[in-house]
Amino acid sequence: MTTPAYSPGLEGVPAGETAICTVADGLSYRGYSVGDLAENCSFDEVAFLLLHGELPSAARLQEFHAGVAAARRLPPSLKDLFAALPKWTTPLDALRTAVSALGHFDQDAADNSHIANLRKSERLLAQIPVAIADQYRIAKGLPVVPARQDLSHAANFLYMLRGEEASSAEVKALDVSLILYAEHEFNASTFAARVIVSTLSDLHSGVTGAIGALKGPLHGGANEKVMDILLAAGGPDQAEAWTKAALARKERIMGFGHRVYKAGDVRATILKKYAGAAAEGAGATKWEETADIIERVMAAEKNMYPNLDWPVGRLYHAMKLEIPLYTPIFAMSRITGWAAHVIEQLDNNRLIRPRAIYKGPAPRTVKPIAERG
Ligand code: ACO
Repeated sequence: MTTPAYSPGLEGVPAGETAICTVADGLSYRGYSVGDLAENCSFDEVAFLLLHGELPSAARLQEFHAGVAAARRLPPSLKDLFAALPKWTTPLDALRTAVSALGHFDQDAADNSHIANLRKSERLLAQIPVAIADQYRIAKGLPVVPARQDLSHAANFLYMLRGEEASSAEVKALDVSLILYAEHEFNASTFAARVIVSTLSDLHSGVTGAIGALKGPLHGGANEKVMDILLAAGGPDQAEAWTKAALARKERIMGFGHRVYKAGDVRATILKKYAGAAAEGAGATKWEETADIIERVMAAEKNMYPNLDWPVGRLYHAMKLEIPLYTPIFAMSRITGWAAHVIEQLDNNRLIRPRAIYKGPAPRTVKPIAERG
C-alpha cells in the first residue's frame, strides 16, 4: 500500500462521505443553498431537514415542533449541578457538562439504532437552549424561566434568557444566525463527534466532545473573540491603524479567514445585513463602521475575508446578549449538524483510525534504572 501525501491539519483531505452538506460550489444542506434556506425557511424547518433528510410539510413541522417543544425541560438535578459549579465556570463549559450529565438521564442513552438516535437528537435540540438559559440565570442568582411550548427555537431561547418575549426582528435575526450555524460538513467539532461515535460510543458522548472542540477560538470560540477585536480596535477613528499594527505584530484577527473559504464566506455576507439592522435598531452603529474599516484593511493587507463569526459577534452584541453566551448559542444550532453526522456515521459505521508519521527516537532498549543518567 502506498502512503498518501501528508497534509498538516488534514487540509484538503477527504476523511469520509456525507449526504448532509457540501461546501463545494457554495454551502448547501441536503442540496439546498444556505441562502435559499435563510431566505425561505425557519431554523426549526432546517433542523428537521438536517435530522430527517427532507424539508417538512406544514403538518410534519407542527408534529416535530410539538415533540421538541414538549421536551424543553431538564431533570431537576441539573439545576443543582449548575448551582454547584464554581462561579468562574463559563457558559460553554457548563453546557458541555450539562450535555454529558443529560446522557445519564436519557432512557435511550446506550441505544445506537437510527430511531433511538433521532429521539435523542430531538431531545438534545430541545434541552440545550434550556440548559444555556437556566445556567445563565442560576449563575446570576435569578429564578429560572420555564420554557414556552408555543414559541420557536430562537424565540423560546430569548424568552427563557430574559424572562420576556423578544421583538420579531430580534427573533428573525437570531433565527437566521442559527440557520447559518447549523451545519458545516467536516468542521473540527463535527469530525470530533464522528470520531467519538465511530468507536460505537454514543450520541451524548459525541456531542459532549463536539462542544469541547467548538470551544476553541480557532473554531466556535471565535465569535466571542470578535467583540474583543472590535473593542481593542476602539472605533472607526483608530480601526485602520490598530488593524495594521495588530497584523504587524502577527496577531490573528478573529472572525477572519477560513480553512476552506479563501475568497469569503457566503454566510458572513448573508448575516451582515442583520447585524447592520440590529445595530441601527439599537442606535449604535459604531461597531458596524469599525468592522467595515477592519474588513477593508484585511482584504487589502492579507487578502482575507470575514467568516460567519464576524457579523455574528456584532449581531449578538447589538441584541445585548452577553459575550460568553455566543459560543453556547452556536452549539444550540450546531446540535442539529452534529446529531445528523452522528446518525449518518452510526448508520454505516467504520472505526475512524488514521495513521501518524513517526518523528520520535530510533528503536532503543530500556537500561536498568540504576544505569540511567
Ligand atoms: N488574522 C490574521 N492572520 C491570519 C488569520 C487571521 N484571522 N487567519 C490566518 N492567518 C494567517 C496565519 O497567521 C498564517 O500566516 P503565516 O503563513 O504568515 O504564518 C496564514 O494566514 C495561514 O494560517 P493557518 O492557520 O495555517 O490557516 P488555516 O487555514 O489553518 O486557518 C483559521 C483557518 C484557523 C480559521 C484561521 O483563519 C484563523 O485562525 N482565523 C481566526 C479564527 C476564526 O475566526 N475562526 C472561526 C472559523 S469559522 C467558524 O468556526 C464558524
